[in-house]
Amino acid sequence: MSPNSSPSPSPIKILIIDDLEQNRAFARAALEDEGYEVILAKSGEEGIECFREHAPDCVLLDARMPGLDGFATCARIRELPNGAETPVVFLTAQRDLDTFDSALQAGADDFLTKPVRPTELLLRVRASLKLRRAYASNREYVDLLRQQRDDLMRLQLQKERLMGFVVHDLKNPVSNIDLLAQLLSRDPDSAEARDAGVHIRDEVRSLMRLLLNLLDLSKSEEGRLVPARMRIELAELMQGVCDALAGRARAREVTLRQVIEASVLDADQDLVRRVLENLLENALRHAPPGSTVTVSACSRAGAIELGVADAGEGVPPALREAIFDRFVQVNKPEHDASRSGRGLGLAFCRLAVEAHGGRIWVEDAEPGARFMLSIPNVE
Ligand SMILES: Nc1ncnc2c1ncn2[C@@H]1O[C@H](COP(=O)(O)OP(=O)(O)OP(=O)(O)O)[C@@H](O)[C@H]1O
Ligand SMILES: [Mg+2]
Repeated sequence: MSPNSSPSPSPIKILIIDDLEQNRAFARAALEDEGYEVILAKSGEEGIECFREHAPDCVLLDARMPGLDGFATCARIRELPNGAETPVVFLTAQRDLDTFDSALQAGADDFLTKPVRPTELLLRVRASLKLRRAYASNREYVDLLRQQRDDLMRLQLQKERLMGFVVHDLKNPVSNIDLLAQLLSRDPDSAEARDAGVHIRDEVRSLMRLLLNLLDLSKSEEGRLVPARMRIELAELMQGVCDALAGRARAREVTLRQVIEASVLDADQDLVRRVLENLLENALRHAPPGSTVTVSACSRAGAIELGVADAGEGVPPALREAIFDRFVQVNKPEHDASRSGRGLGLAFCRLAVEAHGGRIWVEDAEPGARFMLSIPNVE
């Protein structure tokens, strides 16, 4: 839908104020494609000049800039002719309460965290323009709406901060428990203690995986999950993953088999290892006793494909997309109180794989489920 489909002869003008060339180019491309006229400014000072000269219909403003920052720029714009009525949308890499409150105080209409998708940028610009138009005719109603929206956003940011703290603060005690369990697992005097130690370590690993999944899911909300690529030896990686879950496999009387037909992968080692551990943990939970779970690696059409297959009940076709969403579990594991899982594992897997430009899916292993992921080779 073009913003110019209305009879209005002149296009809607958007002023973009950002010190980084790539950010300006990105916003420009997204907006010009939709028929907006775009004006670019490299600094707060230049932005204010452009505002005076062009009287834009909406301003996209970077928060952190050398010289006059976004907050000061916004406050100045508000004092210019037309400045009070023009929507100002903040774009910021810092997603936290303080930045949000400073933006609101400076008179921001909306708040977007970078990196932002082009469609999201467009939607927010359109919404801000509409809201401003509505404001002219119904101030009270719009103020109320805006207040509620800001309260919601504040709540969301508080929740994200709390989650970050909880995960961060739990990691230390959990590591300490693991160290103590390690001691216990070497107790020369008691086989029972050794057994308990091994068992505790296994549970601790699972808890740690859940914590790290949560941490990465919240990082991705803030646009901070960026893979650190390195050359990974696949045979070593697969062996490590199998070793980490060997105890669990034994306890469930499941045999682990490796089929490695590719040698290296350029990816974030920690992320890929945790993806495989999540998949293997799931597979072991669903594999019937006495069966085999196969982990595989092969090279196909410029990508490396990794797989984890079990011979359990499989995933019904209708749910093969949905299980990658957060908190989706096929059968709520009420019967299994020891389960720490909450349906976050596959959501994390999808995030981590997509952060590499790859893809993850599940197919029928006849019988059972075969989870596959494909990560493109980078040149
Ligand atoms: N190998 C599998 N076979 C059959 N169903 C599976 C398999 N792996 C996952 N699922 C289904 O997908 C759901 C989501 O998996 P996911 O890993 O996201 O969550 P979880 O394992 O229940 O909890 P968490 O991973 O957070 O500990 C599972 O609850 C299960 O119903
Ligand atoms: Mg899981």
